[in-house]
Amino acid sequence: MISTGTRSKIEAEMERYPQKRGALLPALYLVQAEHGYVSSDTVRELAEIMGLHPVEVMEVVTFYNLFFDRPQPRHHASVCTNLPCSLRGARVLLAQLEEHVGSKVGEPTDDGRLVLGHEECLGACAFAPMMRVDDAYHEDLDLEHAKSILDALE
Ligand code: FES
Repeated sequence: MISTGTRSKIEAEMERYPQKRGALLPALYLVQAEHGYVSSDTVRELAEIMGLHPVEVMEVVTFYNLFFDRPQPRHHASVCTNLPCSLRGARVLLAQLEEHVGSKVGEPTDDGRLVLGHEECLGACAFAPMMRVDDAYHEDLDLEHAKSILDALE
């Protein structure tokens, strides 16, 4: 259930847009920040708050890879595997990190702490190879540095 505080923030976001639906992305960020993912119950509740059909909300949740429709591990680490990062070893790095954490891309680690992924260009090509861990960018990576970043996650 969306809390009163989050609901107030969503309503404040809707005031910022000529059409309320324009606030859907920030509203989804708020919901996900509160719950860790966007459940189907939350989709219905958010749709009601924003005057949308639940399908319209769900379309956005499933389109963007920054929104999750089911519970997630505590941390997401995504290595950019687009061309500039790949030319500087990102695909090899990702394979090595899979081995290091003991799980494949998209599969949570056994302790449920982390899931590895890969993404298209994250706009930090000059600092390739790079990965995003939760909301933080880590650039100019080598294997030891990347492993230390993942090992430090709680
Ligand atoms: Fe990796 Fe652009 S190609 S950040």
